[in-house]
Amino acid sequence: MDIDELKSVARAIVAKQKGILAADESNPTIKKRFDSVGVESTEENRRQYRELLFTTPGIERYISGVILFDETLRQSSSNGIPFAKLLSNRGIIPGIKVDKGSKALALYPRDKITEGLDGLRDRLTEYKQLGAKFAKWRGVIDIDEHDVPSPYAIRANAHALARYAALCQEVGLVPIVEPEVLMDGAHKIDRCEVVTSQVLEQVFVELDAHRVAFEGMLLKPNMVIAGKKCPHQADTQQVAEATVRCLTRYVPAAVPGIVFLSGGQGPEEATDHLNAMNTMGAHPWELSFSYGRALQEPVLAAWKGQKTNIAAAQQAFLKRCRLNGLAREGAYSRVMETAEAAAL
Ligand code: 13P
Repeated sequence: MDIDELKSVARAIVAKQKGILAADESNPTIKKRFDSVGVESTEENRRQYRELLFTTPGIERYISGVILFDETLRQSSSNGIPFAKLLSNRGIIPGIKVDKGSKALALYPRDKITEGLDGLRDRLTEYKQLGAKFAKWRGVIDIDEHDVPSPYAIRANAHALARYAALCQEVGLVPIVEPEVLMDGAHKIDRCEVVTSQVLEQVFVELDAHRVAFEGMLLKPNMVIAGKKCPHQADTQQVAEATVRCLTRYVPAAVPGIVFLSGGQGPEEATDHLNAMNTMGAHPWELSFSYGRALQEPVLAAWKGQKTNIAAAQQAFLKRCRLNGLAREGAYSRVMETAEAAAL
């Protein structure tokens, strides 16, 4: 493990104004996204869609890294340039999702556990040879108002995240550690704060026990937010304050950056929340984004699988990248959502 190399990649990913595009949807997930706009999920359509994203002019000012799915890391642009090389040529760091998805945790039917540790050391070595410089593993923490997640599910997922992170650092990949407390359900924001606190506390206990260098990793958490079905939705400032309070208590200052997932928030909502946190003053870590849906929803809606829509889809993508780049610095406001203002 070359800690200096890990630190420098981690810091480059959370450079000022920049964040991550999460384009690592597994084939079942991208099928759902394509279904929503009437596009068939063939290997070629997936390739064309990812090419649209990666070749959007100007995104390198706001996007420092892209998380790819295994299939995409092995694909190339229409003119034959492997996607990892195409991104690197633009100054964008390629990364790779390495978990194999979440399943029901045995004997805990309401909890989940992420699979993919067996054979991971060899897969990481191959991904590194294919050009990846960082990796992602997502632990899924289901939540209800009372007794989900179980303490054991928190421990099991934290343990898996730490084993993955140690393997990444051993081979020289920056691990993005993603414990996601879901925003499904009807729980209030306070319940999300309690569960997110328990999860982060346990994750850092396990990372430390596994000798993971905090300086050479990034954390990808959920924001502290009420469940989608909760009638009492917290406002932007409450979400920002609860999230920063929770992170300040449980995330060591040695971690260079925190890159939030969007988790089902709307694109503008996710930008608003990030912006509010970055207006709250200096934090020990960079606060950035690693959004999937919040960056891609408007792109898919504009594209719909039609070649003639590519320019409009790329414009929609650049707009979201630019506005999230501004939110990184606390310089975003809702009025910028109108096309004219966003183009300034
Ligand atoms: P969302 O932003 O759509 O939650 O996706 C981010 C991600 O990478 C989830 O693992």
